[in-house]
Amino acid sequence: MADQAFVTLATNDSYAKGAMVLGESLRNHKTTKKLVALIGPHVTEPSRAVLNKIYDEVRVVDVLDSGDTAHLVMMKRPDLGVTFTKLHCWALTQYSKCVFMDADTMVVSNVDELFDREELSAAPDPGWPDCFNSGVFVFRPSDETYNKLLRFCAEHGSFDGGDQGVLNSFFSDWATADITKHLPFIYNLSSVAIYTYTPAFKQYGGNAKVVHFLGKTKPWGYTFDPKQRRIRGDVQEASAHPSFLLEWWTIYSSLVVPMLQQEYGDQPFLSGCEEDLSYSTQNASPLLSSQERKQKWEQGQADYMGIDSFDNIQKRLDAFLK
Ligand code: UDP
Ligand code: GLC
Ligand code: MN
Repeated sequence: MADQAFVTLATNDSYAKGAMVLGESLRNHKTTKKLVALIGPHVTEPSRAVLNKIYDEVRVVDVLDSGDTAHLVMMKRPDLGVTFTKLHCWALTQYSKCVFMDADTMVVSNVDELFDREELSAAPDPGWPDCFNSGVFVFRPSDETYNKLLRFCAEHGSFDGGDQGVLNSFFSDWATADITKHLPFIYNLSSVAIYTYTPAFKQYGGNAKVVHFLGKTKPWGYTFDPKQRRIRGDVQEASAHPSFLLEWWTIYSSLVVPMLQQEYGDQPFLSGCEEDLSYSTQNASPLLSSQERKQKWEQGQADYMGIDSFDNIQKRLDAFLK
């Protein structure tokens, strides 16, 4: 239906990769809904071009920031203030109903049936199940709700510093009022559940419809060897959701990377696939040539097991000195 859409958000090129995989996963599973990506002004041209190929609509929005460091630090995620930007989704009033999905989610089956649900439907948060997780939710765009939400933010702030805190305070009867607004957990399955309730994960994990790579380490934070189909990075964390992570990387390396490569042309581009390693050693490009990797290093997220391993750095230095 033309007036129903899946909506996601990416304020930078890293989350844009997630949005690309999410969009491809929705297309692979033959959604009949429109796909909309909200992006921040910092998303660069090549990423925008690829998003435009996958999504029906790519809309630039102002980045809203809660600036609420105290709460965010409590949650150990000082980067999540910008998730307030998510609230712009209520302004998409040319659609009558939408499903918001975080850029770190991926569908593993068709989920168009979510549009049978009403605002605000969402799955329980694995950390505090009386709150809903705001990584996947059904909503109705409305200028009235949008303005009320912004006013609510300004007056009350967010107890977690991000959108999930505000949304749970705003839709405060979610936990008790109407069970049809509780989406089954398989619509927002996060790997947290694997640690907290392994037998249930073994029993029901196969029914997953939406996987959510919730937490600090995102799929694009690893590197991948497409030939051997192997993930590199923090092996322990990766092993928490091995097959889902592999599925994410399969879509990314086979469908998204070729499109990105085409857009980048001669410009250097680090896809995170292993080929890049030989490219950069052979060409002895200086360390930190990519803005994105530089950012990661600055955030203390160097990929020590993969592309930033000591061996690789040594190899590059050697090649550079030669
Ligand atoms: N997001 C973004 N840029 C950021 C951080 C977050 O665009 O710098 C968006 C993105 O859609 C992301 C969502 O906000 O999926 C929520 O953040 P995240 O998924 O990192 O939170 P988590 O689910 O891990 O708590
Ligand atoms: C959560 C949700 C995410 C949200 C963040 C900030 O952990 O998974 O979607 O943006 O909290 O509130
Ligand atoms: Mn998320």
